[in-house]
Amino acid sequence: MKTDLPQSFRRLEYCAPNYTFAQVGLDIALDPARTIVKSRLEVLPGASHEAGSPLVLQGHELEFVSLRINGEAHRQFELTPETLIIHALPNEGKQSFIVEIICVCVPEKNTSLMGLYVSNGNFFTQCEAEGFRKITYFLDRPDVMARYHVTLRAREAEYPVLLSNGNLISTEKLPNGWHSAVWEDPFLKPSYLFALVAGKLECIEETITTSSGAKKLLQIWVEPHDLKKTRHAMDSLIASIHWDEKRYGLELDLERFMIVAVGDFNMGAMENKGLNIFNTKYVLARPETATDADFANIESVVAHEYFHNWTGNRVTCRDWFQLSLKEGLTVFRDQEFSADQMGSESGRAVKRIEDVRLLRQLQFPEDAGPMAHPIRPDEYQEINNFYTVTVYEKGAEVVRMYQTLLGVDGFRKGMDLYFQRHDGQAVTCDDFLFAMADANGRDLSQFKNWYSQAGTPKVRVEESYDADKRQYQVTLRQSPAVNAANKDGKPFHIPLKMRLLTPADDRVEALLELTQDQQTWNFDDVTSRPVLSINRSFSAPINLDFNQSEADLLTMFSSDDDAFNRWEAGQKLAMQMILGNRLPDAALIEAYRNLLTDPDLDPAFKELALTLPAEAYLYEQCASVDPQKIYAARRAFRHAIASELRIEWAALYQQMQTSGPFSPDAASAGKRALKNLALSMLLEADPLIWAPMAVNQYQNADNMTDRYAALAGLVIHGSKSAAACLEDFYIRFADDALVIDKWFALQSSRPPVANAESTLSDVKRLREHEAFKMNNPNRVRSVIHAFCMSNPASFHQVDGSGYAFWAESVLALDPINPQIAARLARGLDRWRHFAPIYQEQMLAALKRVAACETLSADVKEVVSKALE
Ligand code: PHE
Ligand code: ZN
Repeated sequence: MKTDLPQSFRRLEYCAPNYTFAQVGLDIALDPARTIVKSRLEVLPGASHEAGSPLVLQGHELEFVSLRINGEAHRQFELTPETLIIHALPNEGKQSFIVEIICVCVPEKNTSLMGLYVSNGNFFTQCEAEGFRKITYFLDRPDVMARYHVTLRAREAEYPVLLSNGNLISTEKLPNGWHSAVWEDPFLKPSYLFALVAGKLECIEETITTSSGAKKLLQIWVEPHDLKKTRHAMDSLIASIHWDEKRYGLELDLERFMIVAVGDFNMGAMENKGLNIFNTKYVLARPETATDADFANIESVVAHEYFHNWTGNRVTCRDWFQLSLKEGLTVFRDQEFSADQMGSESGRAVKRIEDVRLLRQLQFPEDAGPMAHPIRPDEYQEINNFYTVTVYEKGAEVVRMYQTLLGVDGFRKGMDLYFQRHDGQAVTCDDFLFAMADANGRDLSQFKNWYSQAGTPKVRVEESYDADKRQYQVTLRQSPAVNAANKDGKPFHIPLKMRLLTPADDRVEALLELTQDQQTWNFDDVTSRPVLSINRSFSAPINLDFNQSEADLLTMFSSDDDAFNRWEAGQKLAMQMILGNRLPDAALIEAYRNLLTDPDLDPAFKELALTLPAEAYLYEQCASVDPQKIYAARRAFRHAIASELRIEWAALYQQMQTSGPFSPDAASAGKRALKNLALSMLLEADPLIWAPMAVNQYQNADNMTDRYAALAGLVIHGSKSAAACLEDFYIRFADDALVIDKWFALQSSRPPVANAESTLSDVKRLREHEAFKMNNPNRVRSVIHAFCMSNPASFHQVDGSGYAFWAESVLALDPINPQIAARLARGLDRWRHFAPIYQEQMLAALKRVAACETLSADVKEVVSKALE
């Protein structure tokens, strides 16, 4: 019998803290082998205080040294592996008292990258969600907010820079080559927003003036050799600050705002108050080393973390079930910011298409699998497993729906009221909804179902047109998701933007609010049978079940004025043909040709319109997935587009050449994207003719976008020149970790190539490469995750070899870094969705992982849910 049943945490079991802290003093003597942490906590009775109750602090992998209360040694305590329980508190804990604790942690042994750790000789912390308890014993929960006063000490020669949250109060030289710095954060914050950084770092800085006329110091800290790669991040930060003032009236509240880059990081970046810590991938960029996508990602991640300063930090989450309160909202804000940065209406649409594509490729499968959860989960075993595309990306869609329902101004009113009511508090998703409802005098009670029900809803569309009455009728039926943890199945409040497209342009437009299981709308004075353009701009995160004819889809693909739906019609046509094992017919080829040759269309849009639906999204349309069949059908379809349009592709390849110095702006990036799609299509159509052109582009490119695209084209199309270019690339960029990550990822994500070695054997070789490091998350992701999670056609082999590699990798990673292992473990989530020959092999691999007796809580939760 199993005795160690995993512990589950439940949203409805929330209890307010029985104690809280007024003031937190930390004194940290940094040493990789033995860091001594002294804390001084001013403890107060909390909201649910009961006289005489013990103070239960969390602590994880800490060495306890001593405890004092009100200056006296205190012996009435218990230590468990996860807690320090303090009994016999002065005056039964009814009045404030001072707790002083000394404990020790070992940063150099910390490979989980949670808590205090060492990366390339420097110290960093990561405390969200529950990492602070690896630094000291604490009430490590977001609803305990306190003021922090922090003293950092370290050897000056090795750690000249000492940073923490807030304002620098003083620095001091100490005996024996040590020095210290004192930092004070004037704002209340939960422990997950604490940070420190120490080491040999340098910064670029700028002083800006914010809307109220205050001067602010902005700094970006990196290793000295990376200083020249920080300009774009600084520009992005400044743009974010201005945008938040303008759009939401939110000003930077600290005198100093710092970003620090670190090469070992589990996630993208972290919004610690005044001291954001970033994965180097989302800070460092130069045209020669970063692609257009990297530049855009940096801009949006810098903005995201900066926007958290208000949505997350000033107003934070009461508990981790409310994570989407800050993440969904902040993703929505960064999406809107990036859309505005695109600089044109068509740019905004391009951004929207990219966001929706990501949602459907990653979040829809999650919402249909064993880890499906509402954006506000009801239960978890390991909170780290709930930093998901559902909480983030679907959460952002839910926030977007408020704006669609209330209008941009109504949404702003809701935001204003939210801050008016909750600044300085730790609150819930309901509080956000009430602010939106109250500010607009709207009843949003049915909208709550988006927070409590998992799964992608399906909306079925039926239409009819009466030519005599010139009347059009549309009926919508919603059904809750298939295969979701969706117990109640209550109808959602779904905003659907629609327009009737008619030759006479009747201008029939509406926002349909579908709130019941089924509703019908009638439209008068419709001059001819219209084409229905619905869920425009993807106004709701749903699946549309709409049997539109190919003729109607073609009409939309050539002329819908909603760029999203125009793109969507093309995707739907391609998808239906690929899944039906058909090649593009003459009409579709003609539509593609017209689109590609339209001089008025945005190149970025053309590139998206000619990019086929991803395999992951095609899988979602099948009852039983055969990855090899889907790959072959998609590849054949692509080959047809490539060869039938070879003249147009060749012309575009010439026309889209950019000149002058490199700029990552949206218009230039769009041209490069289309040019490089053209190159890839030409390699698909006539590899022998175009390989020399690709080699030429590879060699002469003045930017990473073009160099990498040429290299990828050669690798993916199995060109003979690929090996030499790969070798050249490695030598050229050997000392740039982020570029070497690209080199690994490109080889690991190569689809099967005729007459070439399998990608898996390449991946196994890369794993033995001297530059491969099992404890660097970026490197691991570029080899292992890239193969198992973004290379379906190579990963899903009927002999199960890909799955065996997956199991081996999960088991090898878990003892090093459970979070990174658990992400990989998600790779077989959808095993039940595959054809039986694949299923059996996936099940065997899952069972092999599940059988390991020392699994982390992270991996255990993922595989046990997959096997449920
Ligand atoms: N809160 C971070 C963000 O979304 C993500 C993160 C979570 C980083 C947990 C590290 C650990 O901006
Ligand atoms: Zn975030």
